[in-house]
This record gives sequence, structure tokens and C-alpha cells, in this order.
Amino acid sequence: MRLLFLGDVVGRSGRQAVLAQLPHLRARYRLDFVVVNGENAAGGFGITEAILEELLDAGADVVTLGNHSWDQKEALVFIERHERLLRPINYPPGTPGRGAGLFKAGPADVLVINAQGLVYMHELDCPFRAVEHEVEACGLKRGADAIIVDFHAEVTSEKQAMGHFLDGRVSAVVGTHTHVPTADERVLPKGTAYISDVGMCGDYQSVLGMDPSEPLNRFLTKIARRRFEPALGPATIAGLAVEIDDATGLATRAMGLRLGGALAPAEPLVWVK
Ligand SMILES: [Fe+2]
Ligand SMILES: [Fe+2]
Repeated sequence: MRLLFLGDVVGRSGRQAVLAQLPHLRARYRLDFVVVNGENAAGGFGITEAILEELLDAGADVVTLGNHSWDQKEALVFIERHERLLRPINYPPGTPGRGAGLFKAGPADVLVINAQGLVYMHELDCPFRAVEHEVEACGLKRGADAIIVDFHAEVTSEKQAMGHFLDGRVSAVVGTHTHVPTADERVLPKGTAYISDVGMCGDYQSVLGMDPSEPLNRFLTKIARRRFEPALGPATIAGLAVEIDDATGLATRAMGLRLGGALAPAEPLVWVK
């Protein structure tokens, strides 16, 4: 099975790139399943129902969220109508929506779990125990043919710990939230694909997808003068492609993807004398 995970879609630039490219990526790489993090899809803050439907129509099987889940208040309502939209599982009991779901990919069943880290983030329930609870209820080859975990967290240590905690028990642990891709994609020793942060789908000539002027102003003056506005230059699509052994549900390959915009791969490095 071939999976693709795309990082946080930021604003119009990120959306346009994903909507334009995802149908081609699905066909070109014969993808069986696609997860897209959409927490910044609406002007950088949250997601609307119209944008969710655009992402699903373009080829996303599941859209995950994070700490910006509720920036568009309508999401608190429409998430109940959309089982393909997930918010972090470790929010308090009674939070609208759900944090995990089992989805069809042809004959296979794919379990997707969204969880949020605790370090330098809101206090939520323990993400490790919340994810483990789901995996114990529906493990690899015990109800799920593949399991993808979107771990939305700030620090790489917490993300790496989650990777090792789940190694051999899920197909992939994909870090999101920092909007800066890390270069550590790999298959962990027991067969789980891992990356600390997959990066964003957005304009990288920016501060985390936002036009640099207001973030810079706030660092310099400590005064918020304007809203953050998404940068509007060409977006890089950043993702992680994972090949899964259908017999075990574990990963055989994990490959970072960067397409278009400022972060597209340069020519192979050649040292010049
Ligand atoms: Fe984000
Ligand atoms: Fe986030």
C-alpha cells in the first residue's frame, strides 16, 4: 500500500498548490491513501466546511487538525457531519468531533489517529496513552491494515518519543505543527515510518507561512499591530510518502516529498573545485 501525508496547508497559496497537484500525485504515484493536515487552511487559521470539501474532492481521504482546530468557530459544528475530518484525540471528553477513524482504501482498512503534544502547547490528556488506547482496540492486522498517526507537536523530542513508543505497532508516525520540514525521515527499527515534522504546504518565503512583516514587528516591538496574513508566493507541497508491506502493515520505505515553490529540491549537490 502507498500512503502520502501532506503537512499543514497554509492559506490560499498552500490550498491552491494542493488542489492543483493532489489529483496528479494520486495518479502518478498510484497512491492508495492520502492524509492532509488542514489546521491552517483558512487564511492560516483553522478550516471552513467549503475548504474541507475542496480538499476531499481533490483527493484527500482524511483531513487532520491540531491546535488551530477551532479558529473558525463553524468547525465546532460541521465537524460532527464529516467523519473524514479529525481533531486531536486527547482533547477533553465532550469535545466535538473525533480523534480517530477507520477508513477504506480499496479492500484495506486504514486507521488514522490525530494527537497533539503537550510540551509548549495546551494542557490536554496524555497523547501517548490516548493513541495507545486506539491502537490496542484496533491494531495492525487486528482490524486495521495500516495505521497512520499525525502527531501535532512542538518539540522534536516528544515526537521522537512517540515514534519509538509506537514503533512496530503502527505504519507511520508523522510529525506536524512546526511548518518546517525536518530531514530525518526514516523507518524505525521495528518498522514504523517516521518524520519529526513533515513541513507545511505553503509559501516558504515567509515566517511559518505568514507574511514576514507582522511576525517581525512583534519580535522587534512586542506590540501586535496587525493580523498575521498568509504569504502569497508560490507554495511548496511538503509531505511524506510511505510504502507499506501489505502482509504486516509496517513500512518498507519513507520518502520526503517537496514539490514546487522555494523548497523544491535543487540540482543534486556537486562540489566545484
Ligand atoms: Fe500548523
Ligand atoms: Fe499547529
